[in-house]
Amino acid sequence: IFADQLVAPFFVCEGDNVREPIASMPGHARLSADLVSEEVAILAGLGVRAVLLFGVPAVKDGQGSGAWADEGPVPAAIRSIRRVTPAMSVWADVCLCEYTDHGHCGLLDGHGVDVDVDVDNDATLPLLAKVALAYARAGADVIAPSDMMDGRVAAIREALDDDGFKDRVIVSYAVKYASAFYGPFREAAGSAPRQGDRRGYQMDPRNAREALREARADVAEGADMIIVKPGLPYLDVIRMVRDAVDVPIAAYQVSGEYSMIHAAAEKGWIDLDRAMFETTLALRRAGADLVISYFARDLAIALRRSEGPA
Ligand code: PBG
Repeated sequence: IFADQLVAPFFVCEGDNVREPIASMPGHARLSADLVSEEVAILAGLGVRAVLLFGVPAVKDGQGSGAWADEGPVPAAIRSIRRVTPAMSVWADVCLCEYTDHGHCGLLDGHGVDVDVDVDNDATLPLLAKVALAYARAGADVIAPSDMMDGRVAAIREALDDDGFKDRVIVSYAVKYASAFYGPFREAAGSAPRQGDRRGYQMDPRNAREALREARADVAEGADMIIVKPGLPYLDVIRMVRDAVDVPIAAYQVSGEYSMIHAAAEKGWIDLDRAMFETTLALRRAGADLVISYFARDLAIALRRSEGPA
């Protein structure tokens, strides 16, 4: 593992000088844009070259309109990082679930005013394109759609190209399972669905071959790199996808994977540092070129201390 193979996620909230620790994710906090850019500068000094931003808005609505607000937390953080650490690759997660009052990743049929929890795939696509444009305008290098609507990579690519952002990269969450391991993230982002679940648009853990279909479809639509998520429970899928497509692959060691390692270590049942390295190595061994990890900073510090890759 090298520090430049890691991508560090951040939760960006509104305001100035705000740090709200996330109880279920030891060592992580919701940070305002100014503090995010301070942390990002430290990561750059440790050799980490990419960060992934999630927004936690103060106000949510039925459409998730905060997601495309030019003054929202993510655009603010992008601009601030661009100023302080221009060489950092800034990835902006594109999804509506952090911004909708119902907590789903797309518009609901009936636009969120009734109890129906069916997501309207096609009506969501133009909104995702709007979000991607807002992040591109703010200076994001990478647009990372995690909503799992069908056709969104093509919709985002077209919107970016039409607006003169041909140079922006799309890293799509092509393979994203409906997983039990997203719990701490949903606490961090306040994005747990109010009703229903995400099984209508995220993938069924029983199904491995669907991953190949999703991966190939996203590459055909214009994805430059794809993400497989979660990580550790899906090592077989990472390997299959690695062998099937010719774009780089990032594995996402998600919040629940991070938190369960911390929880067990806190009880003295496992060694935190060793588990951190072993799980990250497993993802690399399975075929991931990059690893998106809440351990990014700790890994980078440990790598620096050992003065070489692990
Ligand atoms: C948004 C999104 C989620 C994660 C990344 N993007 C949450 C979800 O699908 O509920 C989870 C990441 C993590 O658990 O660390 N759609």
